[in-house]
Amino acid sequence: MKGVVLAGGTGSRLFPLTKVTNKHLLPVGKKPMIYYPIEKFIGIGIKEILIVTGTEHMGDVVGLLGSGKDFGCNFTYKVQDEAGGIAQALLLAENFSGGDSIAVILGDNIFEDGLSEMAANYQKSQGSKGARIALKKVPDPQRFGVATLNRDRVVKVVEKPKAPESDLAVTGIYFYDARVFDIIRKQKPSGRGEMEITDVNNAYIDIGEMGYDFLKGWWTDAGTFDSLKRASELAEG
Ligand code: G1P
Repeated sequence: MKGVVLAGGTGSRLFPLTKVTNKHLLPVGKKPMIYYPIEKFIGIGIKEILIVTGTEHMGDVVGLLGSGKDFGCNFTYKVQDEAGGIAQALLLAENFSGGDSIAVILGDNIFEDGLSEMAANYQKSQGSKGARIALKKVPDPQRFGVATLNRDRVVKVVEKPKAPESDLAVTGIYFYDARVFDIIRKQKPSGRGEMEITDVNNAYIDIGEMGYDFLKGWWTDAGTFDSLKRASELAEG
Protein backbone atom coordinates (compact mmCIF):
# COMPACT_ATOMS: atom_id res chain seq x y z
CA MET A 1 0.00 0.00 0.00
CA LYS A 2 1.17 3.51 -0.84
CA GLY A 3 0.29 6.81 0.82
CA VAL A 4 -1.17 10.00 -0.61
CA VAL A 5 -1.27 13.35 1.22
CA LEU A 6 -3.64 15.84 -0.38
CA ALA A 7 -2.32 19.30 0.45
CA GLY A 8 -3.86 21.59 -2.15
CA GLY A 9 -6.65 24.15 -1.91
CA THR A 10 -6.49 27.87 -1.40
CA GLY A 11 -6.84 27.92 2.38
CA SER A 12 -9.33 30.76 2.00
CA ARG A 13 -10.85 30.16 5.43
CA LEU A 14 -7.47 31.00 7.01
CA PHE A 15 -6.79 34.19 5.08
CA PRO A 16 -4.47 36.19 5.55
CA LEU A 17 -2.40 33.39 7.16
CA THR A 18 -2.50 31.68 3.76
CA LYS A 19 -1.86 34.76 1.62
CA VAL A 20 1.78 33.88 0.93
CA THR A 21 1.96 30.26 2.08
CA ASN A 22 0.13 26.96 1.87
CA LYS A 23 -2.21 26.01 4.71
CA HIS A 24 -0.34 22.73 5.21
CA LEU A 25 2.90 24.56 5.99
CA LEU A 26 1.38 26.49 8.91
CA PRO A 27 2.47 25.46 12.41
CA VAL A 28 0.48 22.94 14.42
CA GLY A 29 2.17 22.58 17.78
CA LYS A 30 5.89 22.46 17.10
CA LYS A 31 5.70 21.14 13.52
CA PRO A 32 4.37 22.16 10.12
CA MET A 33 0.86 20.74 9.64
CA ILE A 34 1.91 18.42 6.79
CA TYR A 35 4.32 16.49 9.05
CA TYR A 36 1.39 14.88 10.87
CA PRO A 37 -0.14 12.88 7.99
CA ILE A 38 3.34 11.91 6.79
CA GLU A 39 4.17 10.53 10.24
CA LYS A 40 0.94 8.49 10.22
CA PHE A 41 2.03 6.74 7.02
CA ILE A 42 5.55 6.12 8.30
CA GLY A 43 3.98 4.73 11.49
CA ILE A 44 2.50 1.82 9.52
CA GLY A 45 5.54 1.29 7.31
CA ILE A 46 4.29 3.12 4.22
CA LYS A 47 7.44 4.45 2.62
CA GLU A 48 6.21 5.58 -0.80
CA ILE A 49 4.33 8.82 -0.25
CA LEU A 50 2.83 11.17 -2.84
CA ILE A 51 2.28 14.81 -1.96
CA VAL A 52 -0.27 16.69 -4.10
CA THR A 53 -0.37 20.46 -3.86
CA GLY A 54 -1.03 23.53 -5.99
CA THR A 55 1.41 25.43 -8.20
CA GLU A 56 1.87 28.48 -5.98
CA HIS A 57 3.59 26.82 -3.04
CA MET A 58 4.99 23.57 -4.46
CA GLY A 59 8.48 25.05 -4.21
CA ASP A 60 8.12 25.63 -0.48
CA VAL A 61 6.60 22.18 0.06
CA VAL A 62 9.55 20.51 -1.70
CA GLY A 63 11.96 22.82 0.15
CA LEU A 64 10.50 21.70 3.48
CA LEU A 65 10.16 17.98 2.83
CA GLY A 66 12.93 17.20 0.34
CA SER A 67 13.41 13.68 -1.00
CA GLY A 68 12.15 11.97 2.14
CA LYS A 69 15.63 10.98 3.31
CA ASP A 70 15.16 12.83 6.62
CA PHE A 71 11.88 10.99 7.22
CA GLY A 72 13.05 7.56 6.07
CA CYS A 73 10.67 7.50 3.10
CA ASN A 74 10.45 8.53 -0.57
CA PHE A 75 8.37 11.49 -1.60
CA THR A 76 6.82 11.93 -5.03
CA TYR A 77 5.26 15.29 -5.87
CA LYS A 78 2.37 16.14 -8.18
CA VAL A 79 0.97 19.54 -9.03
CA GLN A 80 -2.76 20.25 -9.04
CA ASP A 81 -3.00 23.12 -11.53
CA GLU A 82 -6.27 24.52 -10.22
CA ALA A 83 -8.16 23.79 -7.02
CA GLY A 84 -10.97 21.59 -8.38
CA GLY A 85 -11.78 19.44 -5.40
CA ILE A 86 -10.36 16.56 -3.42
CA ALA A 87 -11.35 13.85 -5.91
CA GLN A 88 -9.72 15.75 -8.77
CA ALA A 89 -6.51 15.99 -6.74
CA LEU A 90 -6.68 12.27 -6.01
CA LEU A 91 -6.85 11.45 -9.73
CA LEU A 92 -3.28 12.72 -9.97
CA ALA A 93 -2.22 9.69 -7.89
CA GLU A 94 -3.08 7.16 -10.61
CA ASN A 95 0.39 6.59 -12.08
CA PHE A 96 2.00 6.73 -8.66
CA SER A 97 -0.30 4.03 -7.29
CA GLY A 98 0.75 1.57 -10.00
CA GLY A 99 -2.36 -0.55 -9.42
CA ASP A 100 -1.76 -0.81 -5.67
CA SER A 101 -4.35 0.19 -3.09
CA ILE A 102 -3.76 3.59 -1.53
CA ALA A 103 -4.19 5.24 1.84
CA VAL A 104 -5.18 8.90 1.55
CA ILE A 105 -5.00 11.57 4.24
CA LEU A 106 -6.22 15.13 3.82
CA GLY A 107 -3.26 17.24 4.89
CA ASP A 108 -5.25 19.29 7.38
CA ASN A 109 -6.51 16.31 9.38
CA ILE A 110 -4.71 15.97 12.72
CA PHE A 111 -5.54 12.97 14.90
CA GLU A 112 -4.35 10.79 17.72
CA ASP A 113 -4.84 7.21 16.48
CA GLY A 114 -2.30 5.34 14.41
CA LEU A 115 -3.49 3.75 11.16
CA SER A 116 -2.53 0.17 11.96
CA GLU A 117 -5.98 -0.98 13.06
CA MET A 118 -7.71 0.49 10.01
CA ALA A 119 -5.06 -1.00 7.71
CA ALA A 120 -5.41 -4.43 9.36
CA ASN A 121 -9.21 -4.31 9.09
CA TYR A 122 -9.04 -3.27 5.42
CA GLN A 123 -6.88 -6.30 4.73
CA LYS A 124 -8.73 -8.78 6.97
CA SER A 125 -12.35 -7.95 6.28
CA GLN A 126 -12.09 -6.56 2.74
CA GLY A 127 -9.00 -8.30 1.32
CA SER A 128 -7.64 -4.79 0.60
CA LYS A 129 -10.48 -4.28 -1.91
CA GLY A 130 -13.08 -1.54 -2.12
CA ALA A 131 -12.89 1.49 0.15
CA ARG A 132 -12.71 2.14 3.87
CA ILE A 133 -13.39 5.35 5.80
CA ALA A 134 -12.72 6.47 9.36
CA LEU A 135 -15.63 7.98 11.30
CA LYS A 136 -15.64 10.24 14.33
CA LYS A 137 -18.53 11.47 16.44
CA VAL A 138 -18.47 15.30 16.39
CA PRO A 139 -20.57 18.13 17.87
CA ASP A 140 -20.76 20.00 14.51
CA PRO A 141 -21.41 17.40 11.77
CA GLN A 142 -22.78 19.97 9.30
CA ARG A 143 -19.15 21.08 8.72
CA PHE A 144 -18.18 17.67 7.29
CA GLY A 145 -19.16 14.69 5.21
CA VAL A 146 -21.69 12.83 7.39
CA ALA A 147 -22.26 9.06 7.39
CA THR A 148 -25.54 7.24 7.96
CA LEU A 149 -25.13 3.73 9.37
CA ASN A 150 -27.62 0.89 9.25
CA ARG A 151 -26.59 -1.94 11.55
CA ASP A 152 -22.98 -2.53 10.52
CA ARG A 153 -23.01 -0.87 7.11
CA VAL A 154 -22.54 2.68 5.87
CA VAL A 155 -25.61 3.31 3.74
CA LYS A 156 -24.79 6.83 2.61
CA VAL A 157 -22.57 9.84 3.13
CA VAL A 158 -23.73 13.40 2.60
CA GLU A 159 -21.38 16.38 2.14
CA LYS A 160 -22.00 19.15 4.66
CA PRO A 161 -25.71 18.52 5.19
CA LYS A 162 -27.82 21.31 6.70
CA ALA A 163 -29.80 18.74 8.67
CA PRO A 164 -27.35 15.89 9.41
CA GLU A 165 -28.87 12.42 9.90
CA SER A 166 -26.12 11.52 12.38
CA ASP A 167 -23.23 13.07 14.25
CA LEU A 168 -20.66 10.86 12.53
CA ALA A 169 -18.15 12.89 10.53
CA VAL A 170 -16.35 11.19 7.66
CA THR A 171 -12.77 12.12 8.47
CA GLY A 172 -10.17 12.83 5.84
CA ILE A 173 -8.64 9.35 6.12
CA TYR A 174 -9.54 6.97 3.30
CA PHE A 175 -8.36 3.66 1.84
CA TYR A 176 -9.15 2.88 -1.81
CA ASP A 177 -8.38 0.14 -4.29
CA ALA A 178 -7.19 0.98 -7.82
CA ARG A 179 -10.75 1.25 -9.15
CA VAL A 180 -11.01 4.65 -7.48
CA PHE A 181 -9.53 6.36 -10.54
CA ASP A 182 -12.19 5.01 -12.94
CA ILE A 183 -14.83 6.05 -10.42
CA ILE A 184 -13.47 9.62 -10.32
CA ARG A 185 -13.27 9.82 -14.11
CA LYS A 186 -16.99 9.01 -14.36
CA GLN A 187 -17.87 11.64 -11.78
CA LYS A 188 -19.32 15.11 -12.37
CA PRO A 189 -18.57 18.28 -10.40
CA SER A 190 -20.95 19.09 -7.54
CA GLY A 191 -23.11 22.18 -7.16
CA ARG A 192 -20.10 24.11 -5.82
CA GLY A 193 -18.11 23.11 -8.92
CA GLU A 194 -15.84 20.61 -7.17
CA MET A 195 -15.13 16.92 -7.65
CA GLU A 196 -16.26 15.66 -4.26
CA ILE A 197 -14.63 12.85 -2.31
CA THR A 198 -18.10 12.21 -0.87
CA ASP A 199 -19.34 11.19 -4.36
CA VAL A 200 -16.43 8.75 -4.64
CA ASN A 201 -17.40 7.24 -1.28
CA ASN A 202 -21.04 6.94 -2.31
CA ALA A 203 -19.96 5.09 -5.47
CA TYR A 204 -18.26 2.46 -3.28
CA ILE A 205 -21.29 2.33 -0.97
CA ASP A 206 -23.53 1.70 -4.02
CA ILE A 207 -21.48 -1.35 -5.06
CA GLY A 208 -21.47 -2.64 -1.47
CA GLU A 209 -17.72 -2.26 -0.97
CA MET A 210 -17.39 0.34 1.76
CA GLY A 211 -15.99 -0.53 5.17
CA TYR A 212 -15.47 1.76 8.14
CA ASP A 213 -13.73 2.16 11.45
CA PHE A 214 -14.30 4.54 14.34
CA LEU A 215 -11.39 6.67 15.44
CA LYS A 216 -10.89 6.15 19.17
CA GLY A 217 -8.71 9.15 20.02
CA TRP A 218 -9.16 12.83 19.27
CA TRP A 219 -9.48 14.10 15.69
CA THR A 220 -9.74 17.54 14.20
CA ASP A 221 -9.37 19.33 10.89
CA ALA A 222 -7.25 22.49 10.92
CA GLY A 223 -8.71 24.53 8.09
CA THR A 224 -10.40 27.27 10.11
CA PHE A 225 -9.07 29.58 12.82
CA ASP A 226 -10.91 27.68 15.55
CA SER A 227 -9.86 24.24 14.37
CA LEU A 228 -6.27 25.31 13.71
CA LYS A 229 -6.03 26.49 17.32
CA ARG A 230 -7.63 23.27 18.55
CA ALA A 231 -5.23 21.19 16.44
CA SER A 232 -2.25 22.92 18.05
CA GLU A 233 -3.63 22.39 21.55
CA LEU A 234 -4.37 18.73 20.91
CA ALA A 235 -1.06 18.03 19.17
CA GLU A 236 0.84 19.58 22.05
CA GLY A 237 -1.11 17.35 24.47
C1 G1P B 1 -13.40 17.60 3.34
C2 G1P B 1 -14.42 16.59 2.82
C3 G1P B 1 -15.40 16.19 3.93
C4 G1P B 1 -14.62 15.68 5.14
C5 G1P B 1 -13.57 16.71 5.59
C6 G1P B 1 -12.68 16.13 6.68
O1 G1P B 1 -14.06 18.81 3.62
O2 G1P B 1 -15.11 17.14 1.70
O3 G1P B 1 -16.26 15.18 3.47
O4 G1P B 1 -15.51 15.40 6.19
O5 G1P B 1 -12.75 17.12 4.50
O6 G1P B 1 -11.74 17.05 7.12
P1 G1P B 1 -13.30 20.23 3.57
O7 G1P B 1 -12.57 20.37 4.85
O8 G1P B 1 -12.36 20.19 2.40
O9 G1P B 1 -14.37 21.25 3.43
